[in-house]
Amino acid sequence: MTNLLQSRLNVRKRTLTVCVLICLILILDACASEQYPEDHEQLSEEERLVIRFSHVVGEETPKGLAARRFAELIKERTGGYVEVQVFSNSYLYKDGEEIDALLQGDVQIIAPAISKLSELVPEWQVLDLPFAFDQVEEVFDYVQGPVGQELFARLEAKGIKTLAVWDNGFKHITNSQRPIQAPEDMAGLRFRIMPSEVLYQQFRQIGAEAENYAFNEVFQLLEHEHIDGQENTLSNIISRNLHYLQNYITISNHGYLGYLVLINRAFWEGLPEEVQDVILTTLEEVTEWQHQVAKEMNEQNLQEIEACQCIQITYLDEEDRELWRQHLQPVYQYYEDKYGKQYVVSLPRFKNADQ
Ligand code: SIN
Repeated sequence: MTNLLQSRLNVRKRTLTVCVLICLILILDACASEQYPEDHEQLSEEERLVIRFSHVVGEETPKGLAARRFAELIKERTGGYVEVQVFSNSYLYKDGEEIDALLQGDVQIIAPAISKLSELVPEWQVLDLPFAFDQVEEVFDYVQGPVGQELFARLEAKGIKTLAVWDNGFKHITNSQRPIQAPEDMAGLRFRIMPSEVLYQQFRQIGAEAENYAFNEVFQLLEHEHIDGQENTLSNIISRNLHYLQNYITISNHGYLGYLVLINRAFWEGLPEEVQDVILTTLEEVTEWQHQVAKEMNEQNLQEIEACQCIQITYLDEEDRELWRQHLQPVYQYYEDKYGKQYVVSLPRFKNADQ
């Protein structure tokens, strides 16, 4: 009898242990799927974590491709729990709207050209200074150094966190009127610029007119001859077919065009830590890839321009560049007087001269 009782007790104990184990497994499983629920196709938009990413260029550009790759990887790595919805071509917000939309939380990520941050943190216009950098790597070193950190902190203070710096290489000058070799050739021509006082000064300094227009307006402005020309990277020129509207291009590499991938800070701080981690690690990987794509695409686009026989090309040699540098020197003084010397003296062009 005692043995029978004992054995029943043992059976009950074992059953209880098995039940406890099953419960534990179920709880752990529930926790894991709470982090990234598995069957994302079943999740409604309310259950998914949706991040809207807006930008103003085409999908087949270095920025457009990287935004899409980022969205795909995030979907894959979170089992679809985090969904990055990419809106390209100014579909959601155009220039002049997207920063406000980010600050108001209407969109969570944007990646504007750095020149477009000038109203919010005008010090960033240091990157617009003409002939400030010869290589893209110099720009990355500059923004990673102490001055760059200060610039990022200024954005942070405005409620915006920078997640990454994306590249699009150097700008060139196109126009409909004449070949541009020397700064004097620019006299009287009307150019579209991004919203930056430094870019305005750059054109005014050499006798040209400059007016700020949104990127999505450039094609029509050129088509209707409201402006004579514009400055941009080859990938932006080609992706918008601007080379077919313009008669002349100068491969000037005179100014840098890069992007900051920005997220609304309050939104970022409200994200679970594991989502922040997956965003940061994925962006790190995508950024490395994006830099390579920007380099390759701009090289490939130069070959395309050279082969198209649709536009007359002028190249600047080192002597020409030196002449442009001298003519544009007052723009540096303009920047220094307004925003301080410390941002300028750290530019490679001056730092290297000191060494
Ligand atoms: C961009 O590359 O995002 C647009 C640049 C421009 O406005 O010219």
